Amino acid sequence: MPSPREAPQSLQQKMDDVIEDVNKTIKRLLPETDLPEDRLYEAMRYGTLNGGKRLRPFLVIQSANLFNVDSKRARRVAAALEFVHCYSLIHDDLPAMDNADMRRGKASTHKAYDNATAILAGDALLTLAFEILSSPETHEDPRVRCELVASLAQAAGGQGMCGGQMLDLLGETEEFDLGTISRLQRMKTGRLMSFACESGAILGKSDGPHRKSLCNYAHDLGLAFQVTDDILDVEGNVIEMGKETGQDNEAGKATFVSTMGKEQAKMRAEMLVSQATRHLHVFGNRAETLKELAQYVLKRRA
Ligand code: IPE
Ligand code: IPE
Ligand code: MG
Ligand code: MG
Ligand code: MG
Repeated sequence: MPSPREAPQSLQQKMDDVIEDVNKTIKRLLPETDLPEDRLYEAMRYGTLNGGKRLRPFLVIQSANLFNVDSKRARRVAAALEFVHCYSLIHDDLPAMDNADMRRGKASTHKAYDNATAILAGDALLTLAFEILSSPETHEDPRVRCELVASLAQAAGGQGMCGGQMLDLLGETEEFDLGTISRLQRMKTGRLMSFACESGAILGKSDGPHRKSLCNYAHDLGLAFQVTDDILDVEGNVIEMGKETGQDNEAGKATFVSTMGKEQAKMRAEMLVSQATRHLHVFGNRAETLKELAQYVLKRRA
């Protein structure tokens, strides 16, 4: 808490602090080496230290604050989750998936290196994430570590991000109804965001209604986030976004925008964000930052 004389930090300042902290943690976890295979680590550093809003780490840190978790532990979980997210982006950009040449304003990892190196860098980041979570440095209680590992595995695997990515690719050639598109979005994007919020409660050993409320918040926020990603693909600007726009339409992706149109999709995102915010009432004024973040998701340009 700031002392009464200190001006309260803006959301942007808080997000910048998380970016700085998470970058330091990532650099520590991916040190430069002179090993003959350092090219792999170089590609891992390239695919993780290339910018990014670090929204998932921000959610981990904020949710951990709600449960008074030690910040060093929260930072390790934040970095592990960001590794999974960055792996998902590296693979998402490959020619076999979205075939995108630009990510975070730079050449995608497979363009800066090559496809095989990008695949391996993604694989190694995913594996490293679980190594971090299973380390006693992340939590001294093995049950907590096990729960973190199991939850992230569920969020990232076939029932979560990977399953959603499969649906996303199938949606290029199959007609999906709104229910299936919602499921796709929640799996490919929502589940990692849910893990982000839930991890604070896991670290804080909380299993009560507060944890449930946070999960409900993350559920709606994650979906709203992907809806705005789809809207920005139509009306965003490549400079601000750091990635090519118009890609979903070109690939024939099934999105809320392609199904219900941009204006309806915007209304859907607004509805989801106000729903997300309502779930936070159990925290009183302790969750103001998470409420501000929900608004940011709606207004973001990148
Ligand atoms: C992009 O995620 C992929 C989606 C799930 C929509 P972000 O918009 O969080 O990307 P970075 O991490 O800031 O680059
Ligand atoms: C990617 O969704 C989500 C994951 C990587 C899991 P998108 O394909 O819409 O993300 P962008 O638009 O390339 O960032
Ligand atoms: Mg994709
Ligand atoms: Mg993509
Ligand atoms: Mg997109």
